Amino acid sequence: MKITLIHGQNHKGSTYHIGRLLTDQFKNSEIREFFLPKDLEHFCPGCYQCIEDDKKCPFYEEKKHIMDAIETADILILTTPTYCMRASAPMKAFIDLTFTYWMSHRPRKCMFSKKAVVISTAAGTGTKSAIKDITNALFYWGIPYIKEYGISVQAMCWEQVSDKKKVKIRKDMIKLAETIEKAKVRVGFKTRFMFNIMRMMQLKGMGSGETEKDYWKKMGWLGKGRPWRN
Ligand SMILES: Cc1cc2nc3c(=O)[nH]c(=O)nc-3n(C[C@H](O)[C@H](O)[C@H](O)COP(=O)(O)O)c2cc1C
Repeated sequence: MKITLIHGQNHKGSTYHIGRLLTDQFKNSEIREFFLPKDLEHFCPGCYQCIEDDKKCPFYEEKKHIMDAIETADILILTTPTYCMRASAPMKAFIDLTFTYWMSHRPRKCMFSKKAVVISTAAGTGTKSAIKDITNALFYWGIPYIKEYGISVQAMCWEQVSDKKKVKIRKDMIKLAETIEKAKVRVGFKTRFMFNIMRMMQLKGMGSGETEKDYWKKMGWLGKGRPWRN
């Protein structure tokens, strides 16, 4: 099994450790790990070059490294500390740079069979909205199976987290890994519905242009084909 971890922070605090605790439960897995902003130190400049061709993104090569690992993974684990009730800024910058992967543009077929987990920690409150920033993007990438884990750790770093809380987190990660491993990926109504709206947009020429429409045509999605079917 291939697992790709994307951390919305460079440092190894509570959020990182929880992400690793979960990863460790999947025995014999191949793990690839990226830290933001270290591994993609850019913001989307809004040049729209990617709409024509992903290779025209000024950060294509660096981004490709991460996106290849995402596209070939069975499970994605994204982690972010809660910053001002939302995901970290590097995580948001990364999401912006995946703009063409959204169903409204050129969704990738491989996304419709993946499992993902989003993890966030906060000192007190805000994990729900921080996680939502990420699950929203994953949903629009087409990922049908997304789990969430948010916890208030009452700490500024992993060392400050109480032993009692660490025991609870470890148990939660064992249970979460079992659930994920057993789960069968099924593309649900919400994803199908949204995909069909985007398909109608492309059919009516309301997408971002001819290149995008050609992509949908080439994938067979303007006819009877769907990314979740073989
Ligand atoms: C810039 C910044 C903003 C933060 N905003 C919040 C917040 O909105 N709510 C909260 O409960 N904790 C907030 N915190 C605390 C962290 O979310 C918390 O300590 C978290 O567990 C840190 O994770 P880490 O150890 O992985 O860095 C903030 C911390 C920083 C540095």
